[in-house]
Amino acid sequence: MHKIVILLLLFSSGLQRHSAQALEDLDDRILIVYLSRTNNTKAVAEIIQKQVGGDLVALELEDPYPEDYSAIVKQVAKENETGFLPPLKTRVDLEKYDIIFLGFPTWGMRLPPPLKSFLNGNDLSGKTLIPFNTHGGYGVGSCFRTIKELCPESEILKGFSIRGGSERDGIHLAIQGNRIKVVAKEVDKWLTELAVLHPKNKK
Ligand SMILES: Cc1cc2nc3c(=O)[nH]c(=O)nc-3n(C[C@H](O)[C@H](O)[C@H](O)COP(=O)(O)O)c2cc1C
Repeated sequence: MHKIVILLLLFSSGLQRHSAQALEDLDDRILIVYLSRTNNTKAVAEIIQKQVGGDLVALELEDPYPEDYSAIVKQVAKENETGFLPPLKTRVDLEKYDIIFLGFPTWGMRLPPPLKSFLNGNDLSGKTLIPFNTHGGYGVGSCFRTIKELCPESEILKGFSIRGGSERDGIHLAIQGNRIKVVAKEVDKWLTELAVLHPKNKK
């Protein structure tokens, strides 16, 4: 079903020239890139991939963050204060992708610095970006807004945000077992809504 959604998105991005392509070819043009420390965002990324296809890529850093929770909180706060963009080990050739799902946890109510590194280090102009987020109970904060600010030349669709773990309280991976089904339903609703928002479907 969501292949149709993606086709509609491609039409809305002015990519009609690809309309004759087989549906399978769409897979080649969808990227799902995500940052995940305790695998909640990864779980959502995998759910999205099941529903729309595409390539799945985890963002890794040249210098990984500390394991210790208070140490990472301190380091991220400092990076936010100084505007430091941590170098990424992961490099992706974005040329062939038209649609990029961007996944990340909320960190300090902001977009995690590695995501800023990714957005800063790649040319995303003309691409359709679809953000998704997991958080520890306080929501997405300023993450979606920051993506809009950093990518003025991209089309940014409505983001998805859902509660994941709470490392502070010792809850690491929360999107597992039965909760995967619950989250998959929410993801399905969101993807369906994106199609509804397509200009062709607007009254
Ligand atoms: C450094 C750090 C800062 C965090 N800050 C917040 C926050 O401000 N608000 C919130 O709701 N959750 C916060 N969390 C919790 C994560 O957003 C939540 O556990 C998320 O599901 C983790 O995703 P992941 O498993 O993909 O890493 C923080 C976690 C870390 C490690």
